[in-house]
Amino acid sequence: ATGTAPVGTNRNTAAQRVGRAAVDWQSLGFGFTPTNCYVKAVWREQTGTWSPVEVVPYGPNGEATFPLHVASTALHYGQSIFEGLKAFACADGHVRLFRPQENARRLERSALRLNMPVVPAALFLEAVTRCVYENLEFVPPYVEQGGGGSLYVRPVLFGSGGRIGLGPADEYTFMVLVVPVGNYYKGGLSPVTAYISTNYDRAAPRGVGHVKVAGNYAADLKPSMEAKQRGYPINLYLDAREQKFIEEFGTSNFSAVRYLDENGNRYVYVTPDSPSVLEGVTNKTLMELSLDAGMKVERRRIPVEELATFDEVFASGTAVVITAVDQIVYGDQVIGIGKHPGSGQVGPVARRLYDTVRGLQTGRLPDRHG
Ligand code: COI
Repeated sequence: ATGTAPVGTNRNTAAQRVGRAAVDWQSLGFGFTPTNCYVKAVWREQTGTWSPVEVVPYGPNGEATFPLHVASTALHYGQSIFEGLKAFACADGHVRLFRPQENARRLERSALRLNMPVVPAALFLEAVTRCVYENLEFVPPYVEQGGGGSLYVRPVLFGSGGRIGLGPADEYTFMVLVVPVGNYYKGGLSPVTAYISTNYDRAAPRGVGHVKVAGNYAADLKPSMEAKQRGYPINLYLDAREQKFIEEFGTSNFSAVRYLDENGNRYVYVTPDSPSVLEGVTNKTLMELSLDAGMKVERRRIPVEELATFDEVFASGTAVVITAVDQIVYGDQVIGIGKHPGSGQVGPVARRLYDTVRGLQTGRLPDRHG
């Protein structure tokens, strides 16, 4: 893909610019594509303030590199946190961000945990909005039915100042980049088999699992690759203290549904309560939508033995939205979920929640969060 207009010079309306980049929208996966530009702001200890947001074009051939101090604390000590949110083209010609204030708040919590300066919510929203605006050509066109893509927004905050003794950096960079994306897993909502990574812990109870720290994802690479080598696209962790309770998938939250009567008319949404689970924006949305739909919501410890009793299980997160899980490999057992594990069917609750989330994201349904 290539950019279609020099940064800051495009005077077409948003609706005219959406989807105009030379991208094959039908075959979007979840990979990096250089767009027109990224944006950044820099915090320096000297002034204790953030610089204005700067728009930085990618190179003429899509070069997407960033100069960095050789001793930056991000490189040496992992002082790096990030966010993930999405922008959507909507039927009315607008482009909407889904609940970006939630991501601003979580970035703040992550920053405080890693002793980094906080990005004020106003700066966060300005940078995110500016980056989407400068890259409107890369927002995938609105699709009435069947999903459609989105513009994935990736804010990152990292120690860019150099330091060799362990201590906070004297300079931090807040960067926002965007990439047009389709499904995270090939089949989108369609069920996959998950693999419980019994040889590894994702996060310690009082560690950094609840915040969006880059190192959490580095630590998941080996376990998730081992699961993939065994043929399972998604891995699931148990709690680090006892190895008894469900925590979360490698890159997304764990959601389950139980039908409370035989006809499947009453439902309960179940998700883990744990100090080391990431506070997911999608999971929070699903809990809210479940309550709105008259379902019960339980946020509690989930013993691994309970898996076999759920009618639906799915992974939930910004990137995946919802991906159904119908079988879970745990040691030498294969735990089937629901009545027809392995048949490729998506449960009715997962489907309805998915449709509702997509409706909110694309402005088809009104979002009380604005
Ligand atoms: C997201 O869902 O936005 C994430 O940050 C997960 C990432 C591995 C793509």
